[in-house]
Amino acid sequence: MYRFDIINALIKKYGYQHYLEIGVEAGETFTKVQCAVKHGVDPFSVNATFRISSDEFFARANGDIEYALRLG
Ligand SMILES: C[S@@+](CC[C@H](N)C(=O)[O-])C[C@H]1O[C@@H](n2cnc3c(N)ncnc32)[C@H](O)[C@@H]1O
Repeated sequence: MYRFDIINALIKKYGYQHYLEIGVEAGETFTKVQCAVKHGVDPFSVNATFRISSDEFFARANGDIEYALRLG
């Protein structure tokens, strides 16, 4: 069983619609997660939705994660 199997099981069980991954790297997990809306944050990964650090991401979010997800 892989990390994405556990994440997908939780998404399915609880009916989650949004997935945010901090630190995407090669996208081994990110690309296999099945969720309606997915965002990835990683300053060094071409697979990231937002190529910025998590500190910058949450600073720009200013406590409002929905706002942060619209920054892209
Ligand atoms: C162990 S890898 C992530 C593996 C990935 N979650 C997976 O399941 O395949 C760690 C990643 O964190 C990223 N990273 C390091 N510092 C970060 C930061 N301040 N903000 C966001 N991502 C960061 C690195 O660029 C790297 O791609």
